[in-house]
Amino acid sequence: MMKDAKYFIDKIGMLPHPEGGFYKETYRSTNEIANAEGNLRSISTPINFLLENNNKSHFHKIKSDELWFHHEGETLEILSIQNGELIRIFLGNNLENGEVLHTTIPANIWFASRMKNYQGFGLVSCTVAPGFDFADFEMAKKNELANEFPHLKDIIEEMTLE
Ligand code: GUN
Repeated sequence: MMKDAKYFIDKIGMLPHPEGGFYKETYRSTNEIANAEGNLRSISTPINFLLENNNKSHFHKIKSDELWFHHEGETLEILSIQNGELIRIFLGNNLENGEVLHTTIPANIWFASRMKNYQGFGLVSCTVAPGFDFADFEMAKKNELANEFPHLKDIIEEMTLE
């Protein structure tokens, strides 16, 4: 059987994510902890996340560090803006080529992801601790982000939703 994107989306029960792509939360600890702003959150929450072909996870930010792990399929490109600089991480199993199986995106920075060359699909996991809450999630606005980082306006144009 061909294990394509549809196979994993159906089998895992993933749904469209507001940032783009598909996701399913696979665990939510019942233990709670205060986040940096003093709000109680689950200690840890992982999701399975999938991008396919020209899907984009558009620029957004969250209030916890996010650990990413590659499982299946092709290489994802994770773009982040750190100290005004565009950082590209390739999450995949071609380790000789500088790809990594695991990476961490720091809290409170703008980041986005897509399939490398917009080809194939990639199934990954993303874990945040303290755990995820949509109150800690912000989608970037194209104009505001481009005004803040004018030297990155082309990639911001490509990777923002509105
Ligand atoms: N749960 C819902 N959305 C997300 C997300 O973007 N990241 C993580 N880690 N969990 C989520």
